Amino acid sequence: MTPDSTPTVRQLLAFYLEAGVDCALGDEPVDRLSDPVILPVASEAPLSQPVRTIPAAVPTLRGDTAPAPEAAIHSAREAARTAPTLEVLRELLEKFDGCALKSTATRLVFADGNPQARIMFVGEAPGREEDLEGLPFVGRSGKLLDRMIGAIGLDRTSAYIANVIPWRPPGNRTPTPQETQICLPFIQRQIELVNPDVLVTLGNPSTQTLLSTREGIMKTRGRWFDYDTGTRVIRALATFHPAYLLRSPSYKRLSWQDLRSIAKALEQQVPS
Ligand code: URA
Repeated sequence: MTPDSTPTVRQLLAFYLEAGVDCALGDEPVDRLSDPVILPVASEAPLSQPVRTIPAAVPTLRGDTAPAPEAAIHSAREAARTAPTLEVLRELLEKFDGCALKSTATRLVFADGNPQARIMFVGEAPGREEDLEGLPFVGRSGKLLDRMIGAIGLDRTSAYIANVIPWRPPGNRTPTPQETQICLPFIQRQIELVNPDVLVTLGNPSTQTLLSTREGIMKTRGRWFDYDTGTRVIRALATFHPAYLLRSPSYKRLSWQDLRSIAKALEQQVPS
């Protein structure tokens, strides 16, 4: 395509498909570049000072509106904080409309496994199979995760599995930092309620988000961190995401070292 040639519809659709836009969500197009409604938060602030504003709502892909990120993060924190049990947390998430990913996903993918487990694994976000089944890690990378945890004598009856983001991003795109921040209070509360002895973050996004590090997975994998729930410090290990291991099998050797380290930690912290 030369700069002055107009793309054909076919070329445009091919471009969208490559970018992960693989389904239509509404009959009418939505102008996402139009200004969101801006509501002043500190209306009594002196005029000489900058007024902090929160957009009340932003348009979703469906053409309706969702709370703007700051408001959504605030309501996510409030909702998650009040959940006394995992069941209530799940119900709150089902009702939560602050994350636009909910409108494009088929269903919520909350968790799988045993809530009483001593070990919890957290991935990034559901993919296509997870979105269809409503369970985390059931696709190809999930099958590898099952084999990995099976190698140290665990399965889904003795482990708990969740994701930082509980809705599939369209076309499996990377969740935006805003989407991650909106969903963060829910996974933090989920970890607090499961209260495992060992937390394992799978891959870079989960590790950086939950363990508050900016270092990449090549540096963080195999390292133990302290994860502070506010009421207890949990030992947390970062390791490779199984999807990465499927693409780069030579790293399975290091992943095995991490699994041995996890097994040892569980042995050392024998419950009283
Ligand atoms: N990748 C993830 O991070 N989570 C899933 O549930 C599936 C694939």
